[in-house]
Amino acid sequence: MTYRKIQVRQLSGAGGAEITGVDLTRADDDTIAEIQRALHEHLVVTLPDQPLDDRELSRFTARLGPFGLEPFVEGETTHPNVIAVVKEADETRRLNFGGNWHSDWSFLETPPSYTLLHARQLPPVGGDTLFANQYLAFESLSPGMQALLEQTNAVHSARRPYGPQSHLASGTHLRSMKIRTGPEALAEFVHPMVRRHPDTGRRALYVNKVYTIRLEDMTEPESAGLLGFLCEHSVRPEFIIRVTWRPHMLTIWDNRVVQHLAVNDYDGHRREMHRTSVLGEVPTAAAAA
Ligand code: SIN
Repeated sequence: MTYRKIQVRQLSGAGGAEITGVDLTRADDDTIAEIQRALHEHLVVTLPDQPLDDRELSRFTARLGPFGLEPFVEGETTHPNVIAVVKEADETRRLNFGGNWHSDWSFLETPPSYTLLHARQLPPVGGDTLFANQYLAFESLSPGMQALLEQTNAVHSARRPYGPQSHLASGTHLRSMKIRTGPEALAEFVHPMVRRHPDTGRRALYVNKVYTIRLEDMTEPESAGLLGFLCEHSVRPEFIIRVTWRPHMLTIWDNRVVQHLAVNDYDGHRREMHRTSVLGEVPTAAAAA
């Protein structure tokens, strides 16, 4: 694919691209369209050297679409669509936000299409974010498994991380973040296990360890074997894109076709990121498209 407004350099075999040659506070519409095209081609894009404040981050996000919902994290007082993802230096041996493989808010009817994460303070080393390409995860399955999954739905819920019995409800983890837990996390939503991307038309596996709790019309024990296999398969090393942060870097990912995980390997150092998201559509089943 050719780009006129931006320079694009692929980051790994599984995808990901670094975009340079752009100042996001002054980007014209053609540049925004090219960034979105690069995002659809590479699934994850990093934009180094973008010293955005919350107002600029919000304004750039709004150019990609309406803001996504943030059901369990309160936004910043001055910019309610921005959430701060923070782990303090003294939060040692604690869970970090996003530290297990997941797709953002997949328990919603309309999970975010894109998530944007901006580096505000980084540990001297570590604190990378890993992404897993879910087109490759689907395409590498056998035709028999692909056909089965295309006909199957799965139930998603925020219950495990945000429910009344969760680790987060105990208050000992993520104390620097404005997290809400409670019975509203018990709600469930059914999505296809294979979704078709509305722009690329490609099929991606849509299952994750944090929020996918069982197959539709089955119990959790009955679902555990297949879900366990898929959750392991979906993050195989050859599907991984690793983002190593630099100060002021912005990363955008297409949440419909990647899972991600924040590596928790920087105990004793502070990390602060600011995050926004763009509202997505109801996932379309690959078989129905
Ligand atoms: C997340 O959005 O899941 C957090 C990612 C990160 O902090 O690297």
